[in-house]
Amino acid sequence: MPKGKAFPRLPGFRDFAPEALAEREHVFRSWRGMARRYGFQEYDGPPLEPLELYREKSGDEIVGQLYAFVDKGGREVSLRPEMTPSLARMLGERSRAMPKPIRWFSIPQLFRYERQQRGRLREHFQWNVDILGEAGTGADAEVLAVAVDALRALGLGPDDFLARVSDRRLLSAILDALGVPGDRIAATYVHIDKYERVGPDLTRARLHESAGLAPRAVDSLLEILDGSGLDVVEDLLGERDAVGASLAELHRYQADLTAMGLGPFLRFDLRIVRGLAYYTGIVFELFDRRGEMRAICGGGRYDQLLERVGGEPLAAVGFGMGDVVLTELLRDRGLLPRSAPAMDWFVASVSPAQRLLGREIAHALREAGSTVSYALEQRPVRKQLAMAARQGARRVILLGPEETARGVAVIRDMAQGSQQEVSLADLRRGRPTP
Ligand code: HAM
Repeated sequence: MPKGKAFPRLPGFRDFAPEALAEREHVFRSWRGMARRYGFQEYDGPPLEPLELYREKSGDEIVGQLYAFVDKGGREVSLRPEMTPSLARMLGERSRAMPKPIRWFSIPQLFRYERQQRGRLREHFQWNVDILGEAGTGADAEVLAVAVDALRALGLGPDDFLARVSDRRLLSAILDALGVPGDRIAATYVHIDKYERVGPDLTRARLHESAGLAPRAVDSLLEILDGSGLDVVEDLLGERDAVGASLAELHRYQADLTAMGLGPFLRFDLRIVRGLAYYTGIVFELFDRRGEMRAICGGGRYDQLLERVGGEPLAAVGFGMGDVVLTELLRDRGLLPRSAPAMDWFVASVSPAQRLLGREIAHALREAGSTVSYALEQRPVRKQLAMAARQGARRVILLGPEETARGVAVIRDMAQGSQQEVSLADLRRGRPTP
């Protein structure tokens, strides 16, 4: 017979064998648990959406990475590359009738045709947490707090990661104060976004030549970007009304987070711009402290998106946290659980004569909620015990001809090696007494 053809996995896609799935579930449990502790409700949407939704809303970077095609009905569709446009579409249809603020979360699998690099795949799971219908900074602080707390619940602390926070309103007030015309602001953001990657010389040249900023404006802007926190902004431009108003909002935001004990995770850093087109206010990204990995999480305020997909004007803020970088970080810090298989019971039969009794007892124990396993076909007892050990069974029920004739079975505790007899009647009721 000819040998079968091998089918390699597509690049950037993952298999989840049980060990990998257990790691994924560990992360999901923390995400779900923290979202619920904060009073968020879970939702989901379709993995396939009209292409139009992303063309308009996500910005060029994501649109260039879409898994898009024409379906058999001639519709232009795309796998979802992010959840926020779906959320806006869903709420656009129903938010008018809903009490505000709306607190929703989701864990969708997302698809982006990314360039292969560490921490970026072509599919990932992304925890999305969003608050809609609340314009004040209380909501901004709340979403950052839930992101930080989920990472804390996974065992990460302020030495492991930090939130770098910026504000597009503050940045645009700064640019306005530095004399940058409104139509150059978007181009300026692009260069600020790339600043850390390309360095000061190239950024200086680009801000001057392609974004058209005056040399003095470029100097002040770089001084602000290099400054730690908001002090430089305060010193240089704090007296300008729009800058002062934005700074006051950020101080309020900081005060909320500090009161929650999360101040050590917060760093204002105006170099954070975020690639997506729809952000309008505070934006943030979470990074590992050593700066070795890509962003763990990114989010911010997007107050105009719902209206742009046909909904009511609704203030909104939220984030997406991917599983890829986070799992890498947890592995690096030794914080992933070792997944050992575990079973409450293993039912072993000495001979085929005990097969049906074994099935009956196993089923009664399962009905009572226990995890139970056995050899599907008769094997020597020695092999059955080895199987029980491999499967992590805590106790083995041994059914032998002599004991069953007396109406009992032997229960062996696998950790202690001790044995004890129990009545078959109790086992049949799924209630072993020892
Ligand atoms: P984003 O910055 O594009 O934002 O993605 C958020 C996070 O998802 C990233 O920080 C990263 O952890 C993860 N991520 C993104 N792309 C990939 C990839 N190709 N492979 C692995 N992980 C990835 C958004 O998607 C916004 N919609 C988030 C949001 C929700 N803003 C408001 N609400």
